[in-house]
Amino acid sequence: MTPVDFLNYAPAAERNAEPLLEQLKTLLDSSSRVLEIGSGSGQHAACFTSVIQGVTWQTSEVFEALVALQHNLSRFRNDQLLTPVELDVLNPLHWSNPDPCNTVFSANTLHIVSWQAVEAFFNGVGGILPNGGRLITYGPYRYSGRYTSESNREFDSWLQARDADSGIRDVVELQKLAAVNGLLLEEDRAMPANNQLLIWRKRQA
Ligand SMILES: C[S@@+](CC[C@H](N)C(=O)[O-])C[C@H]1O[C@@H](n2cnc3c(N)ncnc32)[C@H](O)[C@@H]1O
Repeated sequence: MTPVDFLNYAPAAERNAEPLLEQLKTLLDSSSRVLEIGSGSGQHAACFTSVIQGVTWQTSEVFEALVALQHNLSRFRNDQLLTPVELDVLNPLHWSNPDPCNTVFSANTLHIVSWQAVEAFFNGVGGILPNGGRLITYGPYRYSGRYTSESNREFDSWLQARDADSGIRDVVELQKLAAVNGLLLEEDRAMPANNQLLIWRKRQA
């Protein structure tokens, strides 16, 4: 499929797919059952499952974006891709929609949604992951209020001007929220363009 074939095609997802794939190759294998939250166009799922042998990957989206996601992925003949499911992190009923998983992946979502949704995200992920399971989040982050670059500071201002409830999240605040839900930050890997890959591990709450 060429980029133009994806409904809701995201140029950013095309740019970061390769560096993300390099990292995911070190984290996932044929025992990995991945749930992706906020999958967007499905570009990441299509790319990663075409390379990482044996991994199963279930995408999810809010209702408004689900049809486009289903349409995009229906054209891949790939039995590693499970049926996309509806998952709005704010809807408690939706957390029973995905198949069982041992890994949750989410790229560029936590700064888009409200803090209330970030809380629901960690609560939901903490609830569905088995002990030892991993949460992998990717995007821009702050650390004790500090930005990792001037461009991220500008991006944060832009995000908040567009939607006051959104914004680049502080890893220290996320760690507190994660801890309440049995998730510990295990690794923080620097990624291109001032992004980070955060790897969280589920432990008994
Ligand atoms: C910036 S896009 C990222 C899409 C994709 N992960 C990527 O990296 O290209 C943010 C995604 O979060 C999804 N989203 C927004 N609110 C959500 C919610 N309450 N629950 C789940 N996903 C949500 C949007 O539909 C959108 O696809």
